[in-house]
Formats: sequence, structure tokens, C-alpha cells
Amino acid sequence: MPKKAYEIVDHEYDVVVVGAGGAGLRATLGMAEKGLSTACISKVFPTRSHTVAAQGGISAALGNMGEDDWRFHMYDTVKGSDWLGDQDAIQYMCQEAPAAILELENYGVPFSRTKEGKIYQRPFGGMTTHYGEGAPAYRTCAAADRTGHAILHTLYTQALKHKAKFFIEYFALDLIMDDEGICRGIMTLNLDDGKIHRFRAHEVVLATGGYGRTYFSCTSAHTCTGDGGGMVARAGLPLQDMEFVQFHPTGIYGAGCLITEGVRGEGGYLVNSEGERFMERYAPSAKDLASRDVVSRAMTIEIREGRGVGENKDHIFLHLDHLDAEVINKRLPGIAESARIFAGVDVVKEPIPVLPTVHYNMGGIPTNYHGEVLTLKGKNPETVVPGLMAIGEAACVSVHGANRLGSNSLLDLVVFGRAAAIRASEIVIAGAAHKSLPEDAGDNAIARLDKVRYSKGSKSTAQIRDEMQSIMQTNALVFRTEDTLKQGSKKITANYKSYKDIGISDRGLVWNSDLVEALELDNLRRQAVVTMECALNRQESRGAHAREDFPDRDDKTWHKHSLAWVDDKGEVKIEYRPVHMNTLNDEVKVFPLKKRVY
Ligand code: SIN
Repeated sequence: MPKKAYEIVDHEYDVVVVGAGGAGLRATLGMAEKGLSTACISKVFPTRSHTVAAQGGISAALGNMGEDDWRFHMYDTVKGSDWLGDQDAIQYMCQEAPAAILELENYGVPFSRTKEGKIYQRPFGGMTTHYGEGAPAYRTCAAADRTGHAILHTLYTQALKHKAKFFIEYFALDLIMDDEGICRGIMTLNLDDGKIHRFRAHEVVLATGGYGRTYFSCTSAHTCTGDGGGMVARAGLPLQDMEFVQFHPTGIYGAGCLITEGVRGEGGYLVNSEGERFMERYAPSAKDLASRDVVSRAMTIEIREGRGVGENKDHIFLHLDHLDAEVINKRLPGIAESARIFAGVDVVKEPIPVLPTVHYNMGGIPTNYHGEVLTLKGKNPETVVPGLMAIGEAACVSVHGANRLGSNSLLDLVVFGRAAAIRASEIVIAGAAHKSLPEDAGDNAIARLDKVRYSKGSKSTAQIRDEMQSIMQTNALVFRTEDTLKQGSKKITANYKSYKDIGISDRGLVWNSDLVEALELDNLRRQAVVTMECALNRQESRGAHAREDFPDRDDKTWHKHSLAWVDDKGEVKIEYRPVHMNTLNDEVKVFPLKKRVY
């Protein structure tokens, strides 16, 4: 490898955060605020991170518009997770939620308001009162239907205020791990001038988002390529619960863009070709506001049984044309615009054509509720990887278990971004000297970059990526069977291996999107193959993982997290980690396993 061909610029920080979405920015500002020298590295301008696309809101039991309690929120989240979520982490998130929202308000997030001037809250799927026995909870705090946009911009300005140092349009290549398994920093490529930047840090915090782009149709931005998960897998560390991929019921038919669940929270409903509000049959109590996995499956069954709408009977209608135009203008202006642009629909007069679309990865890099990355050492699957943290969609804390409730994602970002900052301030001494790095630190990252840069194979990145997305879309869908998954496993492994035949044409280093897309694909393919293998391995139905050949939840065998490693040949090894069935204190009791009915 012609190492001399690469100019290396060295940096030292107390902490380096990778990713500038909601989680990354909350961690960055928190760490800077606590006096740690903090760098935030992002491949896109911070306010273009995918959090900007979050629409409907952020959950917290504020009780501004009706009775609520963080314990109700915790119960709903445990139930939503189909009892796969870790209850200590869920308690932490739900109990911290009200303070986290008030903190956002103080930072300047322009939340919508009630008549009394309080933060406006709307109902969302699976959010109830009295442990599922009471009325729907008005729990989702909203800034119209642009909540993520409002939060992201506010957090960025706060991070700047606290003098965090931003490295914008830098692409993360690989972690620097030492012989003892400690993370010592990260290698990056400055997209603007092609120089390699090597960052040393006492903690590297991965806040790189999900890997939605392993699928053909998803609400995720093109930048959601699971870069953190890819680096962790290459470092020989496990990924957790990757079989659990969330389909959002209301992606716009054809385009896949998100239409927020907030539409159903404001009174919108789904109908089939017979004009029937079919959710009443599948979830008699929660109806259109059942959890996302339940609604997505119901829609898929309606279409399969011939009750889809449109010429090909292959989608469903979402009605909000009965709502007052004032409600739409005030509370849902963004989706009215998306429906007009992407479906040619005036929502005041016509329904929106929708279809379940990949939206969120419940799985990711395993962490505890402080944001510290975990691995299996000997028999202990709770071993902390020193120097490495993960937060947000990149991580699996696990608060969402087998299925995430809508509006718990923005909450996860800010609560665990803050938790990581608190933890870092406890374990990192500001300004402490760094151990010297081995001479060859980061050489493997440069060698991989160089190999792809000069690759001359017969397959383009787009060809391999299209094939991967099509396999995932066909074989790891809303419903799964042994047959489709076995087929999928063969195909995705072959697709994985075909990466050795990649060939790119731009050999430059400055703004080489040909090269960056090939590197992003390397991250995606690792997570695609793990998702398929874990889905084949889990012989039960739980949350978003619906096996038609194993239709029931099997707590005896499968009440456990999957931990999976993938090697360079695409071979996957699977082990397990127990689900935490404990709480943090006696303010709430564990919610024992029970059947999940909406
Ligand atoms: C939505 O507004 O429906 C998406 C928000 C979320 O996924 O939590």
C-alpha cells in the first residue's frame, strides 16, 4: 500500500463524536459543556443529518393534555418492544424523558403550543394510560410535523455555543483499536481535500444512525449507510438484534417518503378497496394507533387478500380529508406538501396512497444505558469495550427491543446522547495525556481505502448495491418464512462476496463520491448479511420479526438478544445476551412477560 501517497493529519481530543444527528449533537454539546475537548465529525453538514426528517414528535409523559405518568410510558415501551427491551434502560429513558424535553424547550426548540401555552402533545401508536387499560395518551410533543428539524437546528446552535469543534464533510473510515481491545481513536477522510485525519480520543462515540439503505424502499436518507455498525463489525465486535427491522405503515406509495404517524394521531385512518377501516378488525381497541408492526402486517394482509387499492390493488389509502383544513395547516403542513409533491395528492380532498416502508433499525451496536459499547468476553456479554460508546439509531441499548414505538426515537437520541456525555465526564479526565499510538495505527484503514480506490473489478457499486437492496426487499420483508430467508441467506452471502469484484473509475481523493459510495456499501453489506442470518436463526415471531412458519412468540427459547459477528468472508456467528428483566430502583416494578394485544 503506497502509504506515503496519503497525507496524515493528527488530532488529539478528550472525546470524538462521530455523527451530527440528534444523538451526536446532544452528546457533543453535553461533553463540551462539561469541559471536555470535543470534536464532532460528520459526513454531511450537521443540519442535513437524517434527524431533520423526523416528523411527528418526541414522547414524554408531561401530561400537558391529559393524565400521564412515566410508568405508563415505560409499560407501553416494554409492551411495544414485545418484551425484548431491557427494562432498566427503558425505565431510564421514560423517567428522564420529561426533564429532557424541558431541557430542549430551554435550549430553544420551537414546540407547538396549547391554548395555555404548554407544549402541544398528540397521541401516537401504542401510547396509552393506566398500563394499557386507560384512554390513549397524549404523549408525543410536536413542533407541527417538523419536530426533528426543530430539534436538530437547536442542538447544533447549542453545540456551537459550547465551542465544540466540528469536522464537517469528513468520512469515518475505521476505529483505531489497540492489542488490548481498547478503542484509541478513529481514522477519517476529509472529503474536501482528500487528506487522512487521524483522531486520538479517550472516548469515541458512534452516533452514525441506522442502515436503512440496505433496503430498496425506505424512509431513510441516502446517507443512512450504517457507518458505525460497519466499523464495529470490522473491529471484530458484535451487533445486536439485527433481525428486527421496522416498517413504517405509511410510506408514500412509490416514493417511500414518510407520512407521519401523527396523521393518525390527529384522526387520520386507513381504508382498503372496500372502503373499510380494516384496523378495527386487527386491533379492536387501538385501531389505527396500534403499534407499527401490527399496522404494517394488517396492511400487508389486506393487500395479499386482494383488498389493496389502485389499479394493481397493491397499496392502501390514508384518509385525512375529513379533518378540518385548519388542523392540517397548523399541525401537518409538511406532510401536505410531501403528499402534493410525491403523490400528486391534495390531502384536503383525497386520500394518500401508502405502503409499509422500511423506517428504523431496532438492532445495532450493543450498549448499556450509559452508552458504553458491550461485547462478549468469556461468558460475560456485558463486558464494556473501553474507549467506545454508541448512541441513537446506531446503538441497541436496548430500549426498543423487537419493535419501536413512534416518537420514542427522538427521545432515545436526546436521553442517551445526554447519558453518554454524563458518563464521559465521569470516566475521562479533561486534558489527560494520550498513550502513544503504535507506529502502524490506522494503517489497516488506509489499506482498505487504497484497495477500493484502485479497484478494477467488473461490478459497479450501484450494481452490487441494487442487488443487495432487492434481496433484502424480497427476502427479509414484513412477513418471513424459512424458505424465503434460506434463499435470502444464499443470495445475500453471494452478494456480499461479489464486493471483491467491485471496480470504481474515479481514482482521485477530492470529493470522490464514487469512492465514498463504495466504502458506504462495505458498511451496508455487513449489516445486510447479519440481518438476514439473524432473521433465519430466530424461529419465533416477536415484534417486527414475523415468521409465518413460527407465528407465536416463544419466550422459553427466544426471550434473549441475538449477538452477531460477521467476518470478512461474510460468515456470521451468533451468540446471545439475556434481556434485562430488572429496574433501576423501587420506583417501578418489572413488567412480567405477557401476551401483547392491542
Ligand atoms: C413519524 O412521525 O411517524 C416518525 C417518527 C418516529 O419514527 O418516531
